[in-house]
Amino acid sequence: MGKIIAIANQKGGVGKTTTAINFASALAILEYKVLLVDVDPQGNASTGLGVGLEGGTIYDVITSQKTIQDIIAGTDDANLDVAPADINLVGAEIELVDLEEREFILKNAIDSIKSEYDFIIMDCQPSLGIITVNALTAADSVLIPIQAEVFALQGLGKLTETIDIIKTSLNPELTVEGILLSMFDKRLVMSRMVVDQIKESSEYDVYETKINRNIKIAESPIAGQSVIHYDVKSTGARDFINLATEFISKQN
Ligand SMILES: Nc1ncnc2c1ncn2[C@@H]1O[C@H](COP(=O)(O)OP(=O)(O)OP(=O)(O)O)[C@@H](O)[C@H]1O
Ligand SMILES: [Mg+2]
Repeated sequence: MGKIIAIANQKGGVGKTTTAINFASALAILEYKVLLVDVDPQGNASTGLGVGLEGGTIYDVITSQKTIQDIIAGTDDANLDVAPADINLVGAEIELVDLEEREFILKNAIDSIKSEYDFIIMDCQPSLGIITVNALTAADSVLIPIQAEVFALQGLGKLTETIDIIKTSLNPELTVEGILLSMFDKRLVMSRMVVDQIKESSEYDVYETKINRNIKIAESPIAGQSVIHYDVKSTGARDFINLATEFISKQN
């Protein structure tokens, strides 16, 4: 195994980090060995799981100062490790420009530990710059969180284009895992309309499981925990366990 999944959408604030943290945690609860790689200089996935940066960050790996093994940190869950990031990663965007094979730096690093995990989840930043291109080049598949709102579909076109370019140039095997409706509010007619629109207009599968808006999901990163560890009885915890179960049922 060792399947590598990028959580990506260049639109900001759509639930990428929330999905990365809680989907990774749910897979770990289901007894899979999981590594979450933070590929966002905001470092929200790292702080959201209470991970310190003492061992170094993904910036140190990209700039060849450390190996990915050096920087991997444990979490409350023995099945979940994190390769953290911080604001330094912004610098890598510039430093990579002059390197040969610059799109493959992250792939080479992750491939070296791939066999130690069942799933490697990457939390991407809201841009399609060289770091995100590195993530999409390293990935076996992409999971796309989408917020059920009016402009959701505009961003999807650009992301689809980028994925197609990566497939033809850097990573022919890249697939799309599916679209995940995040921050869903079933009381809103608009939420349901957006789902119908996405199903009609996108070539990608849409997960049956939707992530409902839930205050426990927003609170849990402040405690440095996934929502499952923070409040296992919450609807947020239930939704992410359901997502992981649906995801596993779709793997062959
Ligand atoms: N299902 C949910 N219920 C309640 N709040 C949520 C939910 N999903 C996400 N949020 C909140 O919405 C905000 C944006 O979510 P998140 O940080 O996951 O988005 P993102 O796509 O990673 O953002 P960025 O593009 O900046 O990386 C956060 O404050 C998060 O706590
Ligand atoms: Mg984020």
